Amino acid sequence: MLARLGSGAASPALFSRLGGGLRALSGAAPKRIAVLPGDGIGPEVMAEALKVLTAVEKISPARFATETHLIGGAAWDAHGVHFPDATRAACGKADAILFGSIGGPTAESDKPKWANAERNALLGLRKAFTLAVNLRPATVYPMLASLSPLRPDIIAQGVDILVVRELVGGIYFGAHTTDGDRATDVMEYSAAQIRTALKFGFEVAQKRRKHLTVVDKANVLDCSRLWRRVATEMAPSYPDVVMDFMLVDNAAMQIIKAPAFFDVLCTENMFGDILSDAASVLPGSLGLMPSASLGETVHLFEPSGGSAPDIAGKGIANPIAQILSAALMLRYSFNMEAEARLVEDAVSAVLADGLRTGDIALKGQPTVGTAQMGDAIVAKMLASKK
Ligand code: IPM
Ligand code: MG
Repeated sequence: MLARLGSGAASPALFSRLGGGLRALSGAAPKRIAVLPGDGIGPEVMAEALKVLTAVEKISPARFATETHLIGGAAWDAHGVHFPDATRAACGKADAILFGSIGGPTAESDKPKWANAERNALLGLRKAFTLAVNLRPATVYPMLASLSPLRPDIIAQGVDILVVRELVGGIYFGAHTTDGDRATDVMEYSAAQIRTALKFGFEVAQKRRKHLTVVDKANVLDCSRLWRRVATEMAPSYPDVVMDFMLVDNAAMQIIKAPAFFDVLCTENMFGDILSDAASVLPGSLGLMPSASLGETVHLFEPSGGSAPDIAGKGIANPIAQILSAALMLRYSFNMEAEARLVEDAVSAVLADGLRTGDIALKGQPTVGTAQMGDAIVAKMLASKK
């Protein structure tokens, strides 16, 4: 799947529009990465992703300049805000943002340190850098198929879904008001916003299995009817892609019942939030799943899972989602396809060797810690270049 997501990299035209840029590698200035480890397991898994980037520098002409900044609860402790101006400024100057995770223990969610931490920091980043197109792959690794909650006969049909979620529109960013006992949240979309997400959806489908499912609630919502109109207008420009529409309630069912139906699933912000979580449980662990949020001037890369405060600081978190997020950064922000694949192949190789962190181990299977997993991936990368 990762190879597929890889070969599905955006076209040069989209890259230039989204600001990724196709720049020559050799002799170029180092790529500036704003590193935002955040809370919980964020710092631990980020350390492994940075090891991997150092290994990339050893075996390729790529050079990186990383700058670490505070976000989320960690930023609150230091500055009393979740998304400090200094962090925003550093991200604005960076070529890419590598993000860990934010959020605290549920029991403390009312404390000012954690209340609204995700909303302020994550939605703040999305808005500040118009991170309009969110990619969330959900793929079952064959060697980890037994981890999936689905029946083997369903898994055997293949699970390789790329959720393309519109990320800066819809009900998340419409007006929110509370007036006594009445509250409203406005869902609003422009055709232009819809087109940005669908364009990516169509283009990435062309590089994959050429099937795009547009998910909506067109039997009820005007916004969804607008999505259908825009998708129908765009479809003739992509004659090689089979496009279909699916209502969101049915999509929630089909993701579980018949995941092999889906190739690229493109949808609005809130439906994408919910469906990407549903899809993310199919591989068996969130610790495996990276994501990318593509913006106009800079892209952000983060694991699909959260900050997992219950296991933070124990050295047992799975760093693979963070490492694969770094691989997506190599691909989508730096156009380093070969380097991205090197990282992804190293991850597949250690999994094939049977290396398991706790979240992906079967009962009784020996496990490794966060750093051991990171070291093993680095060793595979270096060995592949000997
Ligand atoms: C996600 C998260 C966020 C969202 C929250 C934390 C605001 O659930 O990235 O999917 O709803 O977008
Ligand atoms: Mg979510």
